[in-house]
Amino acid sequence: MSDKQKAITLAFTGASGAPYGLRLLECLLAADYQVYLLISSAARVVLATEHGLKLPGNPDAAKAVLVEHLNCDPEKLTVCGKDDWFSPVASGSAAPKQMVVCPCSAGSVAAIAHGMSDNLIERAADVVMKERGQLLLVVRETPFSTLHLENMHKLSQMGVTIMPAAPGFYHQPQSIEDLVDFMVARILDHLGVAQGLVPRWGYDQRG
Ligand SMILES: Cc1cc2nc3c(=O)[nH]c(=O)nc-3n(C[C@H](O)[C@H](O)[C@H](O)COP(=O)(O)O)c2cc1C
Repeated sequence: MSDKQKAITLAFTGASGAPYGLRLLECLLAADYQVYLLISSAARVVLATEHGLKLPGNPDAAKAVLVEHLNCDPEKLTVCGKDDWFSPVASGSAAPKQMVVCPCSAGSVAAIAHGMSDNLIERAADVVMKERGQLLLVVRETPFSTLHLENMHKLSQMGVTIMPAAPGFYHQPQSIEDLVDFMVARILDHLGVAQGLVPRWGYDQRG
């Protein structure tokens, strides 16, 4: 990977909200990012349940399904296995400086908050934090327990951005896709990726 190439780590975990993750992946690839995609076992269950997309456990096979589903450039997407400790995302010497976990389960929040590094998602997040990169967690659970809130508070104090999967309605969504795009637009804004998915507050909103 050349220094000039835009690269990012994206993790899907087993919280509800698979369409957010898929749409974010689509937008990052369209923005010409090299995406390292990590998918937990529970995320595969959620993807099948919410989106009808059945991803095989084998990373190469999962990549083939995603490339066909998104009709994207295979060169831009790397799907990593949960024990792929030799992946670039596992080391501060090679990992992208930006990572998003979307959707992010309460379980993954806890594991990341406590530096468990027990699978590649947790390790990649730990690497981004220790390298002082940008980590965004798109957390989805309701209600939050005190433990969830404590874990998110701890991470927020370390500079991690906690973005609850809580779309607004002021853009008058007409479809689920509009709600998904609201969240994805906010994530892309935080990453510094140009987007025109939804009208911006105060610019296109006044009637
Ligand atoms: C369909 C489905 C929806 C789920 N939704 C949530 C959720 O919204 N938030 C959450 O924290 N866990 C949710 N879970 C439970 C997590 O998947 C479970 O705690 C899992 O261990 C998380 O593991 P992971 O973080 O490694 O993906 C859901 C599970 C399933 C099967």
